[in-house]
Amino acid sequence: MVPIKKSPARSTRASAQPQLHPGSLVSVRELTPQRTRAILQLADKLEAEETLKRARRLLKRRVALLFYESSTRTRTSFELAAKSMSADTTLVSALSSSIEKGESLKDTGITLRALGAECIILRSPYSGAPYLLAQSTGLPVLNAGDGMHEHPSQALLDLRTMLRFLGIKSAKLNEKSLKGVTVTICGDIFHSRVARSNALLLPKLGARVVLCGPTPLLPDLATTLGPGVSIERNFDSSLKQSQIVMMLRIQAERLAGLSLDLDEYRSNYQANGERIAAHAPKALVMHPGPIIRGMEITSEVADGPQSAIAEQVSHGLAIRRALLLQALSPQPISGKRA
Ligand code: CP
Repeated sequence: MVPIKKSPARSTRASAQPQLHPGSLVSVRELTPQRTRAILQLADKLEAEETLKRARRLLKRRVALLFYESSTRTRTSFELAAKSMSADTTLVSALSSSIEKGESLKDTGITLRALGAECIILRSPYSGAPYLLAQSTGLPVLNAGDGMHEHPSQALLDLRTMLRFLGIKSAKLNEKSLKGVTVTICGDIFHSRVARSNALLLPKLGARVVLCGPTPLLPDLATTLGPGVSIERNFDSSLKQSQIVMMLRIQAERLAGLSLDLDEYRSNYQANGERIAAHAPKALVMHPGPIIRGMEITSEVADGPQSAIAEQVSHGLAIRRALLLQALSPQPISGKRA
């Protein structure tokens, strides 16, 4: 994990420190253990709630989904989560909107607000874009993945998956809940907003995070990420220490300038049946998706008994319901903000 590329949006934020709408979630840096617990508890409550009661929660509230980058899981689950509470949703994608004609993110946000949008969910290839949008519209903005920066709702759904595996109840979550738990994140760490958000969030709850991968995909600078995070180049060694292993795909769309021997990569870093059976036979195997079968993970492991990949997707719906309700509530949900 390396510092993100500087963008105008990030620089502006650093100097001006704008106040974002309290219902926004742009970075897991905003999450204290208390606020994380409150989101997870709200997700549990909404999931257990009677369908008709839940369906009245966001009746006729307007949610805009602004997706400047492709997505299957995040977009669909945010949309289904909003619809399950009867919000009106509209999808704006780069290819079919005035973004193609050069309209800026700020003007797109102001336009959506003028049309009655009360919350914007943004996926963008640009790190820091959600800060700019939240600042320029004053609306709650939920970061659905920004460049190589963060993917906070993914980290929360990953956390929910881990807690279920470990038998820890959301209501009990605190800064020590994951003490003694080691999570290996293996693969293209350099380009991964999922790795960044997980590596920032999990140590706040007591977990140890081991980042694993070859130097081009995991520069030594990654250790500057913070306490509780270390690097291990040998995948087998990191597997032996871990209760949970999270595999990441190689992000071919962001690889410009990097060369990688893919046969060597598979040999050293692929989660295959033989390796998992030998070094982590009881570990939970996770992957945020999309998975590239035969590259970072084999079908035997992805479809095997240790895999939580489909479960992660299901938890996305619960977590995104809670984030939407929090964003559109008159009072943000309880739990101290960072
Ligand atoms: N995990 C994730 O963000 O998947 P999508 O790109 O399909 O949304």
